[in-house]
Amino acid sequence: MNIALIGSGGREHVLCQKIYESKLSENIICIPGNAGTSKIAKNIDVDFLKFRELLKILRSNKIDLVIVGPEEPLVKGLIDFLTKNKIRAFGPNKFAAKLEGSKAFMKSLCQKNKIPTAKFKICKNKGEVIKFLRNSKLPLVVKADGLAAGKGVSICTSKNDVLKHSSEIFKGKFKSSKKIVLEEFLNGEEVSCFFIVDKNNFKFFGSAQDHKRVGEKDTGPNTGGMGAYSPAPILNKKLKRKIIKKIVKPTLAALKRKNKPYTGFLYVGLMIIEKEPYLIEYNVRMGDPECQVILPRLNNDLLKIFYAAVKNKINKISIRWKQSKCMTIVLCSKGYPGKYKKDKVLKNIDRITLNKNSFIFHAGTKLINGKLLTNGGRVLNITSIGKNFIKIRKKILKLIKKINWKDGFYRKDIGWRVI
Ligand code: AMP
Ligand code: GLY
Repeated sequence: MNIALIGSGGREHVLCQKIYESKLSENIICIPGNAGTSKIAKNIDVDFLKFRELLKILRSNKIDLVIVGPEEPLVKGLIDFLTKNKIRAFGPNKFAAKLEGSKAFMKSLCQKNKIPTAKFKICKNKGEVIKFLRNSKLPLVVKADGLAAGKGVSICTSKNDVLKHSSEIFKGKFKSSKKIVLEEFLNGEEVSCFFIVDKNNFKFFGSAQDHKRVGEKDTGPNTGGMGAYSPAPILNKKLKRKIIKKIVKPTLAALKRKNKPYTGFLYVGLMIIEKEPYLIEYNVRMGDPECQVILPRLNNDLLKIFYAAVKNKINKISIRWKQSKCMTIVLCSKGYPGKYKKDKVLKNIDRITLNKNSFIFHAGTKLINGKLLTNGGRVLNITSIGKNFIKIRKKILKLIKKINWKDGFYRKDIGWRVI
């Protein structure tokens, strides 16, 4: 099969690697890909949000299956567009992708279907916020309704803060958001669970915990993710059953009733309070860097899973995991998630020898005239699998020392909860 993979992050590099290892794969193109994917696939630099141009590339490369990494093309309807043009693609339709594309949609769906989540109020203007604040307790969480690249959520400890963040959103801070969701603050332990879903069935696809804050001890501003580990020890069988029964099944059933069944990866972000799961967010794709710690633990041929899913035969596949644990630490450009410089040279990567249990997944990198340069805030994912998280982290930190990149930084405390 000829495969096209959309995206350019660490998530896409690990997806590309797994597709490359598949018995079913022939040619792989990455749109646009990064320096890592360029070694195992053909990178093609077109804007994947320009669907017509993308279609031309897919047709000229005789693509049999499209795998979409990031959320934006899904929320903008890429799957519907490709399906109409008779190109097979893995991911949710535009309506179902609103689970991530609109927090108001997601919360309303939860309310209608009695899915446990934080209490909330959707507000369209400042007056509604002021009215709501009269009878509400702090802290409160302010969320932009639409996609905001991980920057749309503020946890507010004063009413003034709530008003400030709400006003910014109403004034157009995020183009995608005209309304906000005000939410009760949930205090518990966060965990992310993944599912692979087709029109008829779904399968559990691993768990992970990530570190969103830029600073050690989980301080400072939010990022896309500074590191992650899998599996998440908090997720026992009983909790998993509750998540499926109270959250995943009613969500999938609700979308089916609307005649818009969900398909693709489903990322379920949860807060666990006194052993009970509450839905914090849905993402309609794999997590990044969560994908980088889940796929190395997978024993199946990934492309066989995708193929079964697009044929609505996921129930025929038994998903098998290695016993090993996996962790990744993200090496970032200094300044991230604020301003940072691009085009910095990464010198030592090719000189590093990796054993079969360690991987360097590229994210913001590019190859220019054979030189490896940085091309983003999150640059490399140094990843390792093994028996225990303490040893794994030591191994990763040793590798990062060898890379010895002066313009980068990383968190040394990834996995502190399990170490
Ligand atoms: P979201 O984009 O909705 O996933 O929010 C980003 C992060 O904000 C989550 O991963 C949580 O750490 C935090 N968060 C979001 N909603 C809540 C909430 N209701 N209570 C506590 N923390 C929250
Ligand atoms: N690591 C969080 C996300 O992918 O949304």
